[in-house]
Formats: sequence, C-alpha cells, structure tokens
Amino acid sequence: MEAFDQLLAQAPARIDLAGDLDALATLEAELVGKKSLIAETRRGLGRLPAEERPVVGARVHEVLRSLQELLDHRRSVLERVAEDRLLEQDRVDVSLGGYEPSIGMHHILTQTVDEVVDIFTGLGYRVASGPEVELAWYNFDALNTPPTHPSRLESDTLYVEYGDPSDEMLLRTHTSPMQARYMEQNDPPVYVVVPGRTFRADALDPTHSPVFYQIEGLAVDENITFGDLKGTLAHFAREFFGSERKIRLMPHFFPFTEPSAEMHMSCYACDGSGCRVCSGSGWIELIGCGMVDPNVLDAVGYDSSKLSGFAFGMGAERMAMVRHGINHIKHFYENDIRVLRQFT
Ligand code: PHE
Repeated sequence: MEAFDQLLAQAPARIDLAGDLDALATLEAELVGKKSLIAETRRGLGRLPAEERPVVGARVHEVLRSLQELLDHRRSVLERVAEDRLLEQDRVDVSLGGYEPSIGMHHILTQTVDEVVDIFTGLGYRVASGPEVELAWYNFDALNTPPTHPSRLESDTLYVEYGDPSDEMLLRTHTSPMQARYMEQNDPPVYVVVPGRTFRADALDPTHSPVFYQIEGLAVDENITFGDLKGTLAHFAREFFGSERKIRLMPHFFPFTEPSAEMHMSCYACDGSGCRVCSGSGWIELIGCGMVDPNVLDAVGYDSSKLSGFAFGMGAERMAMVRHGINHIKHFYENDIRVLRQFT
C-alpha cells in the first residue's frame, strides 16, 4: 500500500516529463504494463488472505484508474503537439509573390506620331484622318499633279483600279490628298495635321518600305507667309529634337506647293560640324514643305486671291530613326520585342 502511495505521488511529475508519445508509451508500460507493480499485485491477489483481498483489490483498481487518467490526458496533449508540428511542416506559404504581369506599351511609331501630333495640337491644330484607298483625283489631280507626272506610273504607285483616269483608285502615296479632302469639307481658316499610313511601290531597304507613315500639316488663312512656315517648322524641330536645333529651307519641287522647300535640321549629333549621323554635311533632311499652290486652293473652291497657306509632310519612321539612331526601317515592322522594349 505504501508503494502505491509513493507511485501515485510521483506519477503526475513523471508523466508530465514525458516529452513525446514514445517516451509516454515507455512510461505507460512501466506504470501500468504487464510487469508493473499494479499488474503484479493483481496477479498475486489470489494469494492474499480472503479479508485483505477486497481492500487491496479496490486500491489497485483506484490507483490504476488514476494513473490511466493521467496518462490519457498527457497523451492527448502530446498528440495535439505532434499534430501541430506536422501542420507546421506542411504549411503552404501563400504569401509567396506571384509573377509580375508584363505591361504593354505603345509601339515606337505610335509614340512618335502621338508626339508629333501633340506638338501641333499645342499650336491649335486639329487632327484629321482619311482613306488609305484613295481616288487618283485626290492623290494627284486635286494636288496640281499633271496626268503625265512620273509618280503616277505603276512603277511608283500601287493601283487598285488602273486605266480610266476618271475612276482610278490607288493606295495613297502620301497623306497630301487629305489637304484637298479637308478643305472640301471645312471652311477656312484651316489648321490641321493628318497622320496616316501611306504606300509606294518601293522595295524594302534601310530607308524605304512599301508601307510607311506620314504626318501631313496644312495651314490656310489670310496673310499666311513663308515666314510662318519657317517659324512653325523651327518650333517643331526644337520641340521634337531639342532646343538647340536650327533649321534651313532648301529649294525643292512638289507639284502642289509653290515655292517648295526641303527643311533641313542642324545635326543633333555634331551640332553642324559634320559627322557620321549627317554624312558629314552637318544637316539632316527632314521635311518636304512649301506654300500651298493657288491651283490647289482653286481645285477645292477656296478663293486663292484672298487666302494663302503652307503645307508640310514628314515621314514618321524617318523622325523616329533620326531621333533614336535606328539604322534600318525594318525594325518598325518586324516587331521584335527586344527592339520595341527599348522604347518604353
Ligand atoms: N507629300 C509630299 C511627299 O510625300 C510631302 C509634302 C507635303 C510636300 C506637303 C509639300 C507639302 O513627299
């Protein structure tokens, strides 16, 4: 009986010391297993005097129940700990960052056209667009281009309908037909820019493509002078290429402007002293322009005795190539993402 008392007194501390389920199983075997004091006492009950048997039997039962209760409680605690540890090991870290989606961007040509157009809308110009499949009338005749002009040949112009001059249709070779269309639809004064796709029977080489983009400009009002043209283009050059740029206007020819000029800009790479970018000349040819020929004003019903104007046309690819040092026009159309990403 004394041994039982001692056993019970020590049991809670010992059971609490069992750190895991294995240790608890070992202790359980020792306390209540086949070779335990309790099991032995039970087996020996039959050998006790009859009057002691119920007393000892009851005590054994009591001690066994207490021990088993303590063991079971400890087991449930250890099981919970083991389960928590397992859950901790299997944990999925949902806080792990995902993949950043790659954000798209505007194509370098779109960016260039938008920037050029913005400079002119900043001066009060409107923006218009017109058909890519055009009547020969607007592309040539209304623009003072005679029927015999070589640019009309099939070797230069891509025709949709060819032969009978009155209903010839073509892929517009420039954005200039919108000069005539816009003036037909709108009363003066006119200040408009027209970005758009244009087409020519050219083979692809570093500076030519059968499809390219132009931005047309047209200003028609009373008292518009060549000085206005020069000031406008100088402003554009400084806005688009930098405040140090100078321009010069060299004599040229276009059927629809008189006088006509080619605008040259001082080379941004050498500031005019001559380098590889400007082929040693110090100047870069940039924009075709001139004073609107009175015949063009007459063709759309404008009074050429009261109105005058200037027009200009620039290639969007050329603007982007000069500004970014792009050396082949094909880079605009191949859409190699490694090239395009350089212009975010
Ligand atoms: N349309 C001409 C070209 O494509 C450019 C230009 C436009 C010239 C307007 C004068 C006036 O080359």
